[in-house]
Amino acid sequence: MMSEYTWFEGIAFSTKVIKKETLENIRNKFVVKEEDLIILTYPKSGTNWLVEIVCLIQTKGDPKWIQSVPIWDCSPWLEADYGYPLIINKEVPRLFSSHLPIHLFSKSLFSSKAKVIYLIRNPRDVLVSAYFFWGKTNLVRNPGSLETYFEWFLKGNVVYGSWFEHVRGWLSMRECDNFLVLYYEDMKKDTKGTIKKICDFLGKKLGPDEMELVLKYSSFQAMKENDMSNFSLVKNDFITNGLNLMRKGTTGDWKNHFTVAQAELFDKVFQEKMAGFPPGMFPWE
Ligand code: A3P
Repeated sequence: MMSEYTWFEGIAFSTKVIKKETLENIRNKFVVKEEDLIILTYPKSGTNWLVEIVCLIQTKGDPKWIQSVPIWDCSPWLEADYGYPLIINKEVPRLFSSHLPIHLFSKSLFSSKAKVIYLIRNPRDVLVSAYFFWGKTNLVRNPGSLETYFEWFLKGNVVYGSWFEHVRGWLSMRECDNFLVLYYEDMKKDTKGTIKKICDFLGKKLGPDEMELVLKYSSFQAMKENDMSNFSLVKNDFITNGLNLMRKGTTGDWKNHFTVAQAELFDKVFQEKMAGFPPGMFPWE
């Protein structure tokens, strides 16, 4: 079944969950508040893992909140029909998430002291994760094969547009004090170190036991078992085939799916599109 898209400034959004009017409101009317904490990602970069960690930091490891409130209510999704009204009516301090590219985000962010965490993941793993995730929903066009999805992804012909432009765009803010850049690969390799980084950024302190609780309840296994986080509560209207957010949760799964030719082509496009960043900018390269 072909899924319909809402097009906004040349970028595709799923009509089933996002209205053009909301996108216009976000860009022109939505006001970011100083107390806001905003989680920004290109889809399938580990957004929900980061949300779970941030929520657990706020409760000092107490899992009551994340085990009783769906993750999309803990940190509503700004551009979604469901999330936008929740956020504009929410009292500060607000926590919310967005996948919007920088040029579609509210301009008020750029003169605000609101804190932003931008999480980046190896786009090869993003591609594979997205292919399997969207394939179980009716929210996006069905590519029919990974080969076709690979082509669409490289061209930016997917929801939220080009990964390369998304990351280039938001990384332009990386020197700002209120902007923290994180990588999924670092979160996997050193979860505790990343949690400490987030705590420093938010001005929070966790005791050793609290840190252990945050680690425990944000682990892949704990999130997989938590119905508030594993997407088992997503409405059936959007699902075609048993949706589960918690697929593999690993780095480098792309190696199990790309052909040698695809891997080489991806490298070439990556080098071209991401030229100019300092060496070591992306932990997987
Ligand atoms: P995979 O499909 O590669 O398994 P998002 O939240 O942006 O939609 O990203 C989903 C990806 O993050 C999925 O990747 C999912 O498994 C992974 N993920 C979610 N929670 C995680 C956790 N606690 N630890 C590691 N990976 C996690």
